[in-house]
Amino acid sequence: MRVIIETDYAAMSRKAAGIIAKEIRSKPNAVLGLATGSTPLGVYHELVRMHEKENLDFSGVRTFNLDEYYRLRPDHPESYHTFMFKNLFDGINVNPANVSIPDGMAADIGLFCESYERRIKDAGGVDIQLLGIGRDGHIGFNEPGSSLGSRTRLKTLTEETIRDNARFFDNEGEVPHFAVTMGVGTILDAKKLLMLASGSNKARAVRDAIEGPVSAQVTASVLQLHPNVMVVLDEEAASMLSRSAYYIYVERMAEKFEAEAGT
Ligand code: GLP
Repeated sequence: MRVIIETDYAAMSRKAAGIIAKEIRSKPNAVLGLATGSTPLGVYHELVRMHEKENLDFSGVRTFNLDEYYRLRPDHPESYHTFMFKNLFDGINVNPANVSIPDGMAADIGLFCESYERRIKDAGGVDIQLLGIGRDGHIGFNEPGSSLGSRTRLKTLTEETIRDNARFFDNEGEVPHFAVTMGVGTILDAKKLLMLASGSNKARAVRDAIEGPVSAQVTASVLQLHPNVMVVLDEEAASMLSRSAYYIYVERMAEKFEAEAGT
């Protein structure tokens, strides 16, 4: 696992956008796994800028989002569908036919979840999956206790997550209590994982995920089982890690080797 510690949110966002851009430039029809929440906003902003100013081309890119609220219409201002178009898709040249977001309105959610899994497989699997982390250590909406082998399914949100997400709604009563989310096992199938965290309110979850035991109580800890993981943090989110000095040293050495190899 590469743990990259940047000074602040802007630097974290630029770093992560650079990693995604590199993926797209080396594979123009890359399959991106995308996330919502406040954390990836800076990355999306930077990707839109790279599209406008640096010809980053999304025309062949395919995307699969991690999750969506259950029974929130796609045109609801707080649906993840609305979020993705507003913050990324409307600003780049992705083909809307290549965009997949879980359908929280599907009449048969079980059937929908099976078809979502199949669509990801048919696309050749996710090349790089972007992830945020909840304060309880969740990825997607895989709340504590989610099976580490879980697949896309309906999930009941914890009170903490509902409270955290209430800031986007007019009041807490409006926050959906359920969501359709890729499972932990679905996320693990991606070829690369890119997790981001910013701010001191994420420091404990980050420490538990990276340096704690692998546990269904902190679903992000499953990253420790994946062979190709990058975690990009700002200093506040990294503040509770016990091995920061080592992670920083490793990155400095990696940069040195890359410079010497001319990559
Ligand atoms: C929600 C999303 C997650 C996200 C988390 C943290 O629960 N389903 O994908 O990582 O919120 O959100 P934020 O980045 O706003 O802190």
